[in-house]
Amino acid sequence: MKRITILGATGSIGASTADVVLRHADQFAVHALVGHRNHGRMLELAHALKPAWVVMTDAQAASALKDKLPTGTRLGCDMDAAIATATDASVDIVLAAMVGSVGLPAALAAVRAGKRVALANKECLVTAGRLFMQEAAESGADVVPVDSEHAAVHQCLVGHDKGSIRRIILTASGGPFRDRDVSTMRDITPEQAIAHPNWDMGAKISVDSATMMNKALELIEARWLFGVAPDKLSAVIHPQSVVHGMVEYTDGSVVAQLAEPDMRGPIAYALQMAPRLASGIPFLDLAAHGRLDFQAVDEARFPAMRLVKAVLAGADSLAIAFNAANEVANQAFRDRRIGFMDIVSLVEQVMQGCEDVSVQTLDEVWSRDRESRVKAESIIQKFGG
Ligand SMILES: NC(=O)c1ccc[n+]([C@@H]2O[C@H](COP(=O)([O-])OP(=O)(O)OC[C@H]3O[C@@H](n4cnc5c(N)ncnc54)[C@H](OP(=O)(O)O)[C@@H]3O)[C@@H](O)[C@H]2O)c1
Repeated sequence: MKRITILGATGSIGASTADVVLRHADQFAVHALVGHRNHGRMLELAHALKPAWVVMTDAQAASALKDKLPTGTRLGCDMDAAIATATDASVDIVLAAMVGSVGLPAALAAVRAGKRVALANKECLVTAGRLFMQEAAESGADVVPVDSEHAAVHQCLVGHDKGSIRRIILTASGGPFRDRDVSTMRDITPEQAIAHPNWDMGAKISVDSATMMNKALELIEARWLFGVAPDKLSAVIHPQSVVHGMVEYTDGSVVAQLAEPDMRGPIAYALQMAPRLASGIPFLDLAAHGRLDFQAVDEARFPAMRLVKAVLAGADSLAIAFNAANEVANQAFRDRRIGFMDIVSLVEQVMQGCEDVSVQTLDEVWSRDRESRVKAESIIQKFGG
C-alpha cells in the first residue's frame, strides 16, 4: 500500500487525483489532503478518501471544518502543517498541485525528504528549477511530471539515449483564441478566457493557456525536468490535444505519446509507471478523430512565446520575474483590473531592466519574486487598474 499526500487537493488536479486514487483503493492510502480556502470541497473529499490529515492553509477555512471530519482524521491549519504532511516518514508519494509559486515550499520540502514527487505545480520549476532539481539529485527524490506534455515526453524518453535527443516538442492546443481575429482580442473577458476548448482546468492555468503563457512556462519547466539545452525545446500548435508531446532523435525518428485529453492519464502515470494503472480516461479512437492537425505558433498572436525565448536564453532571475509578473497579471485580469492583451505586455514591462543573473538560494528566489510582484502591481496602478 502506497501512502500519498495531495497538495492542492481541492483544485482541478486534486479532483482528478482523487478519482484515480479511489479507483485503486487497494493500492493507495491517503495520508493527507491539503487545500487552501475551499472547505466545502474538502469536506466531501475527506469523507470519500478518509485521510489521516486534512490541512487547510487558510486558518479560517480550517476552523470551518472543526468537528466535521471523519473519525480519526486530524486537522491542520497552515503551511507548516502542509509541509509536515509532505515530509512525514510514512509518505511515499506527494502529488504537488497547489497553484502558483506559493506551492514551492511544500513541494521542495517533499523533494528534500526524498519522496516521489508527482509535480503538477509547474511554477515551482519555473521559479526555482535549478535548486529544485539539485535538491532532488541530492536526496534521491524522483520528480515525475504531471503536466500532460511533460508526462508525454517522459514516456517518449524511456529506453532512449539522452545524447541522441535532437528536439523535445511540446504540443499546445492554442486555447480558445487560436483563430480569433487579433484586432478583437482586447475585448476578451475572463469568462471567455477560462472556457478552454479541450481541457477542464483551474482558472489560472486556463487564462495561461489562452495567452499561451502556459506553454511558455512549460518550456522552462521542460528545461529543468529533462536537463536539455533550451535550443532543443520547441512547441507546436495541435488543436485536438491528442498528441501531448514528442521527442525527435538524431536519426530523424520522432516518438510521440497520444491519449484523449484527460488529466487522469498523466496522473495515473505519475503515481505508478509500471504496471500501468487504469486511469478511467476513454480509450483513444483515432479513426473517430479522423485527423490530427499541426501548425506553427504565431508569435504575433501569442507574444508570450516570443518573450520566453529571452527567458530561456538568460539566467534564473529572468524566469522568476517572468513567473511572478504573470501570476500578478493573470489575477489582475481575472479581477477585471487589466485587459487580456495587457497580461503579456505587463510581464514584458516587468522584465525590462530585470537583472539577468543565476540564483543560488531560496531566499534570493523569494526576494526577486517579491520585487517583481511589486513592480507588476505598480504598473497595473499606472494602467488605472
Ligand atoms: N488543471 C489542469 O488540468 C492542469 C494541468 C497541468 C498542470 N496543472 C498545474 O497544476 C497546478 C494546479 O492547477 P489546478 O488547475 O488544479 O488549479 P486550481 O483548480 O485552481 O486548484 C489550485 C489548488 O491550489 C490551492 N491554493 C490556491 N491558493 C493557495 C495558497 N495561497 N496556498 C495554498 N494552496 C493554495 C487551492 O486551494 P482552494 O481551492 O482550497 O483555495 C487548490 O487546491 C497549477 O500549477 C497548474 O499549472 C494543472
